[in-house]
Amino acid sequence: MKNVDDLNEAEASDELARIVGLMADADIAYHQNDAPEISDAEYDSLKNRNLAIEQRFPSLKHEDSPSNKVGAPVRSGFGKIKHIVPMLSLGNAFTDEDVFDFDKRIRKFLSVDDDQGVAYTAEPKIDGLSLALRYEKGKLVFAVTRGDGEVGEDVTNNAKTISDIPHKISGAPEILEVRGEVYMTHSDFEALNATQAKNGNKEFANPRNAAAGSLRQLDSSITANRPLAFFAYAWGDISEPLADAQMESIKRLGGLGFSINNLIRLCQSPDEIIRHYTKIESQRAVLGYDIDGVVYKVNDLTLQARLGSRTNTPRWAIAHKFPAEVATTLVEAIEVQVGRTGALSPVAHLKPVTVGGVVVSRATLHNEDYIKGIDSKGQPIRKGGDIRVGDTVEIYRAGDVIPKIREVIKRGDGPVFEFPKKCPICNSDAIREEGEAVARCSGGFSCAAQRIEKLKHFVSRNAFDIDGLGVKQVEMFSEKNWINEPADIFLLEENHGPKLKALDGWGEKSVTKLFNAINERKSIPLNRLLFGLGIRHVGESSAMTLARFYGDWTSFETAMMAAQKHEGEAWNALNAIDGIGEVMAAALVDFFHEPRAKAIVDRLVKRLEIQAVAAPETYGSPVAGKTVVFTGTLELVSRAEAKATAENLGAKVSGSVSAKTDILVAGAKAGSKLKKAESLGVKTLSEQAWLDLIAGSSDS
Ligand code: IVH
Repeated sequence: MKNVDDLNEAEASDELARIVGLMADADIAYHQNDAPEISDAEYDSLKNRNLAIEQRFPSLKHEDSPSNKVGAPVRSGFGKIKHIVPMLSLGNAFTDEDVFDFDKRIRKFLSVDDDQGVAYTAEPKIDGLSLALRYEKGKLVFAVTRGDGEVGEDVTNNAKTISDIPHKISGAPEILEVRGEVYMTHSDFEALNATQAKNGNKEFANPRNAAAGSLRQLDSSITANRPLAFFAYAWGDISEPLADAQMESIKRLGGLGFSINNLIRLCQSPDEIIRHYTKIESQRAVLGYDIDGVVYKVNDLTLQARLGSRTNTPRWAIAHKFPAEVATTLVEAIEVQVGRTGALSPVAHLKPVTVGGVVVSRATLHNEDYIKGIDSKGQPIRKGGDIRVGDTVEIYRAGDVIPKIREVIKRGDGPVFEFPKKCPICNSDAIREEGEAVARCSGGFSCAAQRIEKLKHFVSRNAFDIDGLGVKQVEMFSEKNWINEPADIFLLEENHGPKLKALDGWGEKSVTKLFNAINERKSIPLNRLLFGLGIRHVGESSAMTLARFYGDWTSFETAMMAAQKHEGEAWNALNAIDGIGEVMAAALVDFFHEPRAKAIVDRLVKRLEIQAVAAPETYGSPVAGKTVVFTGTLELVSRAEAKATAENLGAKVSGSVSAKTDILVAGAKAGSKLKKAESLGVKTLSEQAWLDLIAGSSDS
């Protein structure tokens, strides 16, 4: 092997590519296959050689160079574990009013009278990463990260090094999955960064990144040296309840030896929770660890169970976020990007500035009017002032969302920004329809930007989620014209396999791994496919609603092809699905009746095995698969609860009566729907008869 100093530029370039490939293969052998092929010393010497070459030829450095990785090589290779009870996230409240609405929604769902309140716990929202710890017969059997909420990473060995996490507990239910947050205190974070700096390692941007980076080390001896802490605040799979209420359950976790946050309070009203919020907020700076809000949870566990969950968030809890953090910086440029639905989205490029521990260099500018200083209702914002390149602006950032511009502090000398009339990518006309804030590129699938954004969406986490096929790879493959539409992904191996293996930075193993990941996704649940298609207005939860309603691909596709906008049975049925409005219905019909879009879908579907979406567990449910309509005034449970219960039992809840309706539940003062059901011979039940019918089935 040549000495680094003797390499010419071409040799150096080849050598870097070779090392990146070798190290990628070594990572897979070590972490995925648990079968190391090279020794640690060889691995380190590759890493050092890589660094030495990069130092001589900085311009040759690869984007995914091993030297970019923080600390020890963070290699991807944790085992995956499926959560028995999904790990949900939380809905957000930003204002007191949002909190009052949350309480109102809950009382309405539960039909609780105004003079009777619901009690809530209020506790800090820890800014770390969530972790689930499974104990069987008192012994810690595994620790899993949240992952995508369904499947997480097995970090058991690392979690065992955290002193707040007991390896054994006694007096607990036989099966107990404790959930909580791994975090790092401010003092530990500062000490860690000082050590990192001293050793020439990259410093962490904030305690949350430090905690995440430390927990996700493949070498648990590194985690052991990182000062991580853990607060328990929830539970997942459990063989018997810890207690009847949230507060008592948490106290019991405390009794079992877990750290419990000492600012948790039981509050009897929204006024009281807001008072506790203010108190926690006033202590924020001296707590010694980062929090980003206060979480409220319905205290009574029976009520929690009745409230249940939406697709990703429980109805019984909410996170009340602290106000956004602000900073002042300069607008260096305004770029107009084209999204997957063709929307022209202006983005401000900012002089990088730190806001709440995160370096920000972009802010969304929403649309043409927003730049001009007009809101969606035509009212002035920022006192009607426009935004120009060269302006000094105040930006704010709430939670993880992209920062926004609040105000122009000082006008620069740039000209008024001219919003483009043509797509900046494909030069098709940008059309802004009457009453719409957003201008859209009219190029459709012929616009490269739309195509690539659709592909990025297709492979994203909640859609096809293909390991190793992220934004960067999609960009690269589409630049090479290897992937132009989703079906091409599934033809990549066949059409471009050998060429890919010959590319810089790809080793034999990483290529095989990618193809395996792609093949794994040939079998896909219907809801993920529907979401992945990137149809306008169809988000993750609507995709699930559609999948549940139609069940399998053939029924769904047949219905879409049969539907004409604003007329006919298929259109009416689509519109009658609870949660699908007219705008979304029209977008669906447009999409499936657009020949190019339909052809792309046909080519894709041919490569897939689409899994029908099973209704939720409905053993013994008398209404599974039945179409149910509620009408009139329900007096025993709220309309929302009736609907949620019916859906949990596998029924499809529809808003209108047709020959396909199986059951009409008629509350007081039922009118035209009842008459129609009678005339069609649809079975009708009183509210009490409905409750009797479902009583005793799994969910009630
Ligand atoms: S409860 C079903 N309580 O916030 C509800 N979450 O935005 C489960 N978090 O993924 C979560 N502090 O990582 C809960 N006291 C707290 C929390 C908390 C922090 C995190 C958690 C969750 C995220 C949701």
